[in-house]
Amino acid sequence: MRVVSTKAELADALAALPGRRAVVMTMGALHEGHLTLVRTARTLADVVVVTIFVNPLQFGPTEDLARYPRDLEGDVAKLAGAGADLVFAPGVAEVYPTPAVVTVSAGRVGEVLEGEFRPAHMDGVLTVVLKLLHLTAPDVALFGQKDAQQLAAIRRMVADLDLGVEIVGVPIVREPDGLALSSRNAYLAPDERTVALALSRALAAGADLAAAGGGPRAVHAAAAEVLAAEPGVVLDYLALVDPALDPLPEGYRGSALLLVAGRVGTTRLIDNVVIDIAGIDVAGAGSVESNEEH
Ligand code: PAF
Repeated sequence: MRVVSTKAELADALAALPGRRAVVMTMGALHEGHLTLVRTARTLADVVVVTIFVNPLQFGPTEDLARYPRDLEGDVAKLAGAGADLVFAPGVAEVYPTPAVVTVSAGRVGEVLEGEFRPAHMDGVLTVVLKLLHLTAPDVALFGQKDAQQLAAIRRMVADLDLGVEIVGVPIVREPDGLALSSRNAYLAPDERTVALALSRALAAGADLAAAGGGPRAVHAAAAEVLAAEPGVVLDYLALVDPALDPLPEGYRGSALLLVAGRVGTTRLIDNVVIDIAGIDVAGAGSVESNEEH
């Protein structure tokens, strides 16, 4: 496995690796979720390229860019074990030699949900994803379902800009107790980690209700009840939307996403579950509002 840090080295290394190419983009601090992406990529392509870059453009001015965990040596060892062929780990000056003036706008997909709390986040994500797609020129790119809105925005960019790359979403990897794997879990103190479990518990409650034939309002209410019982979670939103992130129309049946975002101490966490809405609501069964602070 080769590790390169400049665009020129990347181009040389790619030229020496023929075959169908997959890319997995990461910000490092790799965990089993990332390694699952790499292993899945291995089954889909001859050449697996992994990028490691903490992208300043997707962090707001008060967010955790400076303290975001970085462990290049550890990441490289994990990637070698997971079967990556090439790692591109550039510095900020390599990716943005001059401050970005022309950037990608996620439009409406970036304004809802995360966009209400992280206004420029999705534009920053799409800008770096477009650059990395261009630099690595993959046939297929894999992204985790954990960042469901990011995945939806990337799919939309690829469609709207005719990028001609296959996008594969890979299911969330969870700890045995349900906590979705995230590099930001490293910030959690043991007691905060226990509090954070309310997020996955809430989603599971909603999913159970959907499986039992509950309609959208009842599903949302079941999840909201779990969160309301855990004051340690400061909720940003709990939302039930269709796969395009639009609100569910009255009487909706089919695949839906139940998403949650909240803060535990100073750590902001997100999680989601894909559910199938087969039931309809009975009168008075909660509401499907997307922002409920408690
Ligand atoms: O999901 C992430 O780690 C990042 O948002 C990504 C896609 C690597 C872009 O910086």
